[in-house]
Amino acid sequence: MRHLLNIDDLNKDDIDHIMRLATDAARGHFYTITDKILATIFFEPSTRTKLSFQSAMYRLGGNVIDLPSNSSKSKGETDEDTIKVISEYADLLVIRHPQEVMEKLAAVSSKPVISAGEAHFEHPTQALLDLYTIRQYKNNKDKITIMFTGDLYFSRTVNSLVEILKKDGKQCDFIFTNETPLTEPNWTIIKEHQIDDYLDKVDVLYMTRGQKERWVENFDGDLLGRSKFVLSKDHLYKMKADAIVMHPLPRNGEIHPDVDDNYRAKYFKQVRNGLYVRMAIILYILKMSH
Ligand code: NCD
Repeated sequence: MRHLLNIDDLNKDDIDHIMRLATDAARGHFYTITDKILATIFFEPSTRTKLSFQSAMYRLGGNVIDLPSNSSKSKGETDEDTIKVISEYADLLVIRHPQEVMEKLAAVSSKPVISAGEAHFEHPTQALLDLYTIRQYKNNKDKITIMFTGDLYFSRTVNSLVEILKKDGKQCDFIFTNETPLTEPNWTIIKEHQIDDYLDKVDVLYMTRGQKERWVENFDGDLLGRSKFVLSKDHLYKMKADAIVMHPLPRNGEIHPDVDDNYRAKYFKQVRNGLYVRMAIILYILKMSH
């Protein structure tokens, strides 16, 4: 039995295999799995991740059960007991949790667990769909420059994307526009007021929202992770013609809606790709792929 909790659970072959399955899914070629049930268990809000997993499972021909908001958690049931019980009903569990407990929850599950986001540390399925999107638009380049903006302290999507890019082996120059706990010696760390000076170097601009719910938990006096940068059409004119703008969504004011109809804006393409990549992940983890 195999879980997907962290980028470390994937090697380069796994990544390539999931990318191939996602490409097939996008073309309408995939196994159907009518006899399987997926459980979505979200202890934290979600729109895209939960609904894309549910939609992916239905498109594969499978069925879905969902932990309701009026679950026995309100009666004091532990998360471990909840997972132990649901793993008797389903063949695969997709879990999101605001704390670092995924290993513990997976350990009590009798079925494979996929992390749908763990605290501010990991979001492996978002990283896979982000990588799929980057490969889709940047496969022609041997080396790319990625600039990260927004909350680089508490964004699990940034953490996981950096990890998967390293594992994938593509040559990347990373520019961080705020302090990040991840720092490595060859990364460029700039201040937000310098963003304009670097925009012409960027192949991928990866934006994130402020993780306000995590600021409250991790508040240490100086609001690590707070960003004031708002992307507007004027910034786009300073970027390369083939640069792309990505965002895991939801956005929270950091991208002006005017940007949406520019061909560089790929955040709604990411949404669509998320469906195919999650179909691929379900097949891969259930070992239903060739
Ligand atoms: C992200 C998440 O939950 O980590 N959203 C997503 O899954 N698409 C990003 C966020 O909440 O800011």
